[in-house]
Amino acid sequence: MGYHRAGFEVVGVDIAPQSHYPFEFHQGDAIEYIVEHGREFDVIHASPPCQAHSVMTKRWGQEVVSSHINLIPATRAALQATGKPYIIENVEGARDELIRPVMLCGTMFGLGLKAGNQLRRHRYFECWGFEPGLTPTCKHNKKQTVLVCGNSGGRSRRDGCMFHTADERRKAMDIDWMTNAELVQAIPPAYTEWIGRRIVAADTEYSEHIEEKEVEFLREENERLRQQIEELERRI
Ligand SMILES: C[S@@+](CC[C@H](N)C(=O)[O-])C[C@H]1O[C@@H](n2cnc3c(N)ncnc32)[C@H](O)[C@@H]1O
Repeated sequence: MGYHRAGFEVVGVDIAPQSHYPFEFHQGDAIEYIVEHGREFDVIHASPPCQAHSVMTKRWGQEVVSSHINLIPATRAALQATGKPYIIENVEGARDELIRPVMLCGTMFGLGLKAGNQLRRHRYFECWGFEPGLTPTCKHNKKQTVLVCGNSGGRSRRDGCMFHTADERRKAMDIDWMTNAELVQAIPPAYTEWIGRRIVAADTEYSEHIEEKEVEFLREENERLRQQIEELERRI
C-alpha cells in the first residue's frame, strides 16, 4: 500500500493465498517469480519470512531457529541478478544479514493510538540501487507500546499486561484490510511510502543531473558549430 501511495503500480507475490491483498496478486514462489519476471519491474521489494531471525523464535532455542530456512541470501542473489533497484525488509534479529540497512519505526510517522500508545515496530531495509538518505528520528515515549505479534486482546500471563485488540492494532498500523494473522506479518504502509518517495526523489535527482549534462553538451556543441560557421564565412 505504501508504494501505491508513493505513486507506484503494485504487483504482489506470496507462496500462500492472500485473499485480502488489495492489488494484482500472484501465488507462487517469490524467488522463482523474481528470476522469471524481475526485469519487467522498475523496483522490487522483498520481505522474506523472518521467523529464522525473530526474537519470538529465538526464545524457543537453536533447534527451532534452525528449522526455519533463511531466505535472505537466495532472495538477494535473485534480486541482484535482475540489475534493478531493490529493497529487502526484515526484523531487528536479521539486521546483520542485511547490507547497510536503514531502520524505520512507527514513531517516525506518528503511528499509534490516541491514548499515546505508540507503534514502535522497528524494521530494517536493505536499499540497493538508490540512496534512501537520512531517516526521520525515533520519538519513543514511556507509554505501553502497541505490540503486533501473536494473538490479539486479553492479558499476558507473564506480566499481566493487556494485549491490544486486533482493531487497535489495525489503527496503530494504519491498515484496515487485514486480519490479525495477516497484520502480525506486515509492515505499516507509512514505511514503504517513505521508501517509495525516496526512490522517486532519487530518480528525479538523477534525471535532473542527466538533463543538466545534456544541456551543457548542447551548449558546447552550439558554440563549436558557431565557430565553424564563422571560420567558413571568413574563408568565403
Ligand atoms: C514477513 S511475511 C511478509 C508478508 C507481506 N509481504 C506483508 O508485508 O504484509 C513473509 C511472507 O513470505 C511468504 N513466503 C514464505 N516463503 C515464500 C516463498 N518461497 N515465496 C513467496 N512467499 C513466501 C509467507 O507466506 C509470508 O506471507
